[in-house]
Amino acid sequence: MKEQLRNRLQLTIIAVLLIVIAAMAYKFIIAGSVEKAADGRVAIVLEPGERAFVLTEMRAFVAGLQQMTAALARDDMKATAAAAHQMGMAAAHSAPAAMVGKLPLEFKTLGFATHRDFDAIALDAQSLGDPKHTLAQLAATLQKCVACHNTYQFKVSAGQ
Ligand code: HEC
Repeated sequence: MKEQLRNRLQLTIIAVLLIVIAAMAYKFIIAGSVEKAADGRVAIVLEPGERAFVLTEMRAFVAGLQQMTAALARDDMKATAAAAHQMGMAAAHSAPAAMVGKLPLEFKTLGFATHRDFDAIALDAQSLGDPKHTLAQLAATLQKCVACHNTYQFKVSAGQ
């Protein structure tokens, strides 16, 4: 009888721990740290330094696009590929883990897809050397910038 009770207690503790782990996994991997913004978008709540980190990455996108379009206008496909490569996955690896846990899954998916697109654009620019093709790929990728900005904004956590 005593043995049975102990087993039941152990099972209950395991079940509770599993629920806690599942809730944490949901929060860190899927939901992120979000609230509804006044303008209807989803506000991702970050520390000031984390927000500065992502915005720096965003400005690097604009700088990269400037270099890429200038190279494309010259039909310089080598420089086009180099500029695209700079915005590829190589630029996405340094994000701090604590911050990544605050980003919703959809945001991370869209962000990584954008970086991956630029790697594909760089490869095609090298191998095909066709500015029109690159321009069409770029237009498709810029839709990811538009889609994400339409959906999300950043907010600095309260008390900062
Ligand atoms: C996965 C989501 C996502 C993607 C993809 C994305 N952005 Fe952003 N970007 C954001 C968010 C969120 C902000 C902050 C907007 C706010 O708080 O109102 C932002 C801000 C910016 C800013 C403002 C930077 C500053 O210092 O204030 C620029 C410029 C920018 N993005 C450019 C781009 C460009 C160009 C692309 C595509 C190549 C891109 N972004 C792709 C989410 C994204």
